[in-house]
Formats: sequence, C-alpha cells, structure tokens
Amino acid sequence: MHEDLERVLFTEEEIRAAIERVAGEIAADYQEKEITLVTVLRGAVFFAADLARALPLPVRMDFLAVSPFPLASGSGMVRIAKDLDESIAGQHVLLVEDIVDTGLTLRYLMKTLTLRQPSSLAACAFLDKKPRRLADVPLRYRCFEIPDRFVVGYGLDYQQHYRNLPYVAVLKPEVFRG
Ligand code: IMP
Repeated sequence: MHEDLERVLFTEEEIRAAIERVAGEIAADYQEKEITLVTVLRGAVFFAADLARALPLPVRMDFLAVSPFPLASGSGMVRIAKDLDESIAGQHVLLVEDIVDTGLTLRYLMKTLTLRQPSSLAACAFLDKKPRRLADVPLRYRCFEIPDRFVVGYGLDYQQHYRNLPYVAVLKPEVFRG
C-alpha cells in the first residue's frame, strides 16, 4: 500500500461485487430500456466504465464536468465547465457520480438536467458520504456508504493524485492537511 494511505476501505474484489449488485438493481428497474449514463468528469469515469460493462442493457454514454463557481469558492456552488455532447431529451438518464458528499453538486446537476426533459432521471454514486450531507438529494443507487473521511483511489483524487489505485483507501490526515 502507498505510504500516504492509512487503510484500504474497499478492495478490488469488493468493488467488483458491489458494481455487480448495483448493475442488477438498475437492470431490474429499467427492464429492457436503453439508458444514457451521464458521467461526471473526472472521478466517475472508472466507475462508469465498469458499471456500463456490468449492465445487461443497451447503454449510451455522455460526459460533463463541473467546476466551482467563480467568486464563490467554498460555497459548494458549481457550474458546468464541459457540457454534454448530445441532447438527453426523451432519454432515460442515469447520472453517474464518484462520490456524493454535501450533495450540492448532485442537487445542481439534477436540476439542470431535469430542464432538458429526459424521459426519466435518476442518480447513481459509487460512494455515499452521508454524514456530510447538506442537500436532500435523491440518490437511487450507491455501491457503498462511507464515514466522514477523505478517500482516494478508483477515480477519486487528492490534488490529481491516486486516481489510478484499483482500490479505495483513506488518505492519512497529515497528507490531506499538507
Ligand atoms: P459535493 O457537492 O459536496 O457532494 O461534492 C462532491 C465532490 O467532492 C466529488 O465529486 C469529489 O470531487 C469531491 N469529494 C468529496 N469527498 C471526497 C473524498 O473523500 N475524496 C475525493 N473527492 C471527494
């Protein structure tokens, strides 16, 4: 394990099993319908790629990126920095997030995407950090709930590092605080 890490929270095997479970839940809910996975860059790409391959349904994929709102850093306000390439009108959209923390990003994205008139819209997150939730967001699918710790790996970063770790680990607080 990397020296900056305190402990592994979820191993590769546990991640694979959780994705299989969530893919089964999604497949049961959507039956044979085609779904559009709208993935939030950059952290969720690892999860979205594995989830898409585990889904026994026709899947379309599109991507967007958010960044903190200028002049409002720390407020949790975000804006779309890279928009979707295609319209989602009339499609069954599943928003794919790496982690839902305060929920402010997800709340903003759900509102924004609803205005584009998809046939349906639901959210799916790899990790759910419930203890820090500020916004009451409708998260329909999650792989794991986690405590209020800063985690990295499997797409999640700290200052752009550790995304490619195949497991999820807690970062040592001394690294996090610099
Ligand atoms: P929210 O708007 O507070 O829910 O923010 C979610 C975003 O915060 C995620 O997409 C991550 O980029 C970031 N984030 C929150 N907690 C963590 C963590 O433990 N590790 C890495 N990124 C995190």
